[in-house]
Amino acid sequence: MSERVVAAIDQGTTSTRCLLFNRAGRMLAVAQREHRQHYPRPGLVEHDAAEIWRNVTRVVPAALKSAGLTPDDIVGLGIANQRETTVIWDRHTGLPLARAITWQDTRTDGIVARLVEDGHAPLITSICGLPPATYFAGPRLRWLLDHVPGARERAEAGDVLFGTMESWLIWRLTGRHVTDVTNASRTMLMDVRTLQWSDKLLDVLRVPRRMLPEIRPNAEVYGTCTTLLPGVPVAGALGDQQAALVGQACFAPGEIKCTYGTGAFLLMNTGHRLAESTHGLIPTVGYLLGDSPVYALEGAIAVTGSLVQWFRDSLGMIGTAAQIETLASTVPDNGGCYIVPAFSGLYSPRWHPEARGVMVGLTSFINRGHLARAVLEATGWQTREVVDAMNADSGVPVARLKVDGGMTANHLLMQFVADVLDVPVERPLGSEAVSLGAAYAAGLAVGYWSGLEVLRANWHRAAAWEPAMDDDLRRREHENWGRAVNRSYGWVQAPS
Ligand code: G3P
Repeated sequence: MSERVVAAIDQGTTSTRCLLFNRAGRMLAVAQREHRQHYPRPGLVEHDAAEIWRNVTRVVPAALKSAGLTPDDIVGLGIANQRETTVIWDRHTGLPLARAITWQDTRTDGIVARLVEDGHAPLITSICGLPPATYFAGPRLRWLLDHVPGARERAEAGDVLFGTMESWLIWRLTGRHVTDVTNASRTMLMDVRTLQWSDKLLDVLRVPRRMLPEIRPNAEVYGTCTTLLPGVPVAGALGDQQAALVGQACFAPGEIKCTYGTGAFLLMNTGHRLAESTHGLIPTVGYLLGDSPVYALEGAIAVTGSLVQWFRDSLGMIGTAAQIETLASTVPDNGGCYIVPAFSGLYSPRWHPEARGVMVGLTSFINRGHLARAVLEATGWQTREVVDAMNADSGVPVARLKVDGGMTANHLLMQFVADVLDVPVERPLGSEAVSLGAAYAAGLAVGYWSGLEVLRANWHRAAAWEPAMDDDLRRREHENWGRAVNRSYGWVQAPS
């Protein structure tokens, strides 16, 4: 009989994937489908949650088929998901009431500005750990309740449910309405110490408790699939960035990873201590796999891979994302050009919701190659800003960075990241840390893996980039980048 495996669903910002992993943490099969991005107006980004569910129903059988397996071969299913993307649905029909509002969407800037004006910021941060920002799910839920006809009344009557993507998918798969601590920690509605919904925050954001899912640990059997994988336990869920922390085996305080996807997200394990940030980072739940939660400090960068996508799709500069490396290699440097991709404002560490993208340093010398370099370098410098903030907050300089995600296939970029950070960058075998983390959570819950040490032993370094940039050059370029970023904000008015 073939070895039984763990399945993971990675419900990401641009696509939904199903991956199968064996006991060694090796990926045996993957199937993927992209979903449509809806951009109704500048700053607004929506997804159709029903389309995402349909994609799940396609990728799961496709992954099984390509591995030659059946649902009986699956010991458990784990879910990792784009965080903060907010959906409400009718509990009787199972239909979303509106398109899901994604984590990049800035329509809640007015709600957030009012929370701050009304003096709620200290209370919010003291309970949930987060600064009030358009990034988080709670203000989106408030927006939906205020704008979708009948939503508030129906939610109060218990007919409408709220969830982030893991919650939506678990409900579709098992009928149970649950979320996990990591996703809940991104709502601005959860008390980050008690790991329960906070009545005070529900009150501030005017959210009816009845519509909220139950908050559960990351590894436990939430329910059994009644469809798609009948009988298979759904046994793990984490926000994708926390899933990567687990997939990268960052189990000791101080260990840090960065996942390069649509955006880039650095998480540092801070152990059982909830670290506070005075430098623009986000204290968040890392994972709850045992008795007490492990916290993390996070630097969230909204736009990295999506800048390459924009360069490809909106500007038509390249045919495939991979071609950016070839194009950037046609020139020795950026030619003095810098791109600051503040498409959704600026997240960590600056937090300027009103910032907008800028391109500076243009001369007639600049060609497509320089622009390609500036696109990639924007990811490197944004990483540097977050690492500087981590160093300042923790007092212990980051000594190396574990990386994963699609953009790590780009050697020029990874070398640039090592150069501007001035620390080695390492990638494990298989850059699928997000899905692996979700699989690990589910596998731990059903006893497929015995504990964290076994998972740590599965981590093997596959590639490394050593810093090689001259110190003076790094300093000069860093200053130029800082000047470019300063031009991205302060000229668009914040909403009243
Ligand atoms: O917080 C947003 C993050 O979870 C999105 O991740 O990989 O789907 O871009 P990704």
